[in-house]
Amino acid sequence: MLDLIDRAMCSLQAALFGREVYSREHPAVAGHMECAHDLLTKAFHQIEQVTILGFEDRVVFKNDKLPSSSTLAEGLFRRLHHCGVEAVSFRRGLGCDEIRAMLDQLEDATKQPQKINGSAHIRFGWIGGTEPRGAAGEALPFKSAGNPRRQAGVLQHVWRDIRTGKPGQGELMTLVADICTSVSLSRGITIPLASLKTHDEYTFVHTINVALLSTSLAEEVGMRGDALLDLTVSAVLHDIGKRMIPKSVLNKAGKLTDDEWKLVQRHPEDGARLLFGAPDIPAVAPIVAFEHHMYPDGGYPRVAAGWKMHLASRIVQVADVFDAMRTDRPYRKGMSLQEALEILQKDAGTRYEHALLDAFTRRVAGNTQRELPEAASDITSIRTA
Ligand SMILES: [Fe+2]
Ligand SMILES: [Fe+2]
Repeated sequence: MLDLIDRAMCSLQAALFGREVYSREHPAVAGHMECAHDLLTKAFHQIEQVTILGFEDRVVFKNDKLPSSSTLAEGLFRRLHHCGVEAVSFRRGLGCDEIRAMLDQLEDATKQPQKINGSAHIRFGWIGGTEPRGAAGEALPFKSAGNPRRQAGVLQHVWRDIRTGKPGQGELMTLVADICTSVSLSRGITIPLASLKTHDEYTFVHTINVALLSTSLAEEVGMRGDALLDLTVSAVLHDIGKRMIPKSVLNKAGKLTDDEWKLVQRHPEDGARLLFGAPDIPAVAPIVAFEHHMYPDGGYPRVAAGWKMHLASRIVQVADVFDAMRTDRPYRKGMSLQEALEILQKDAGTRYEHALLDAFTRRVAGNTQRELPEAASDITSIRTA
């Protein structure tokens, strides 16, 4: 039963976030909504009413934490909280139109916080046992990321605030929930990736694309639950050490000098240092930051022979190199999908594991959909830092 309810809530969340990535009418959105309805209808064969409680950090059904509790707490239930709702009950007889009406209201509430109304078979429980206090505008506006370009904008704040753990933390988890939902919604269809509009935004757009690709690859190789969530957080933060590199070096059009290249090569260590011990950051995040440019045959930083890279780092690495090759940079034009995959394949079994590359090639890379690229720039060299 717990798994059934969990899947129903995840489908509801996917339908809600999918409306922003695509549109209310998109078939994938309708599919997720129907799926949620079907799963809840199955549950109604055994119980009359399904009541789910959403706390700040967890989502529970009958005192049991749902398997996707963290993702739901930062996604669907965070939205409900913004409307003053902490419990939602679905009753036998629930119709798809009632779910749609609930999602409509939740979506509208992202623009202007407002009271949300129940229906014949959906009931809400309010924080503190009462309905939202006074004017709808009292609640903080919910800033959803929703698409890769906006997600990249949110990421800039997260990077800025990561050490304090204050404003950035909520944004980080909302961003991660959005990425996980975008990926789950895109399963079997397309992963929406952003292309650069200006070279200045490279780091943030690239990072969000890496997070989308890494999450998708991790899911493909069987990662689930909190491990998947931690992987997504780690991917979002893998290049945070670049915060210490001057923009003039990061966006330099020509070849880097030796000193500049040394500066760039410090970002894995700087990133690990920034993340290590930062509040509420999963333990794997500094590891991924530290290891994502390492290879068994070199890379950086240099480590002792026999070093075993974490699976999360190896996943992020494949996504990182792929996105770097596909993107236009001041010093070269982005490669075609085919070219990028061929280059990765050359290092199959040495730099990258066969199983990871196969999963990436088969199920992830070909399902990406990019915005139209900006005007091409000259090709001079390849750099994937
Ligand atoms: Fe990167
Ligand atoms: Fe990097």
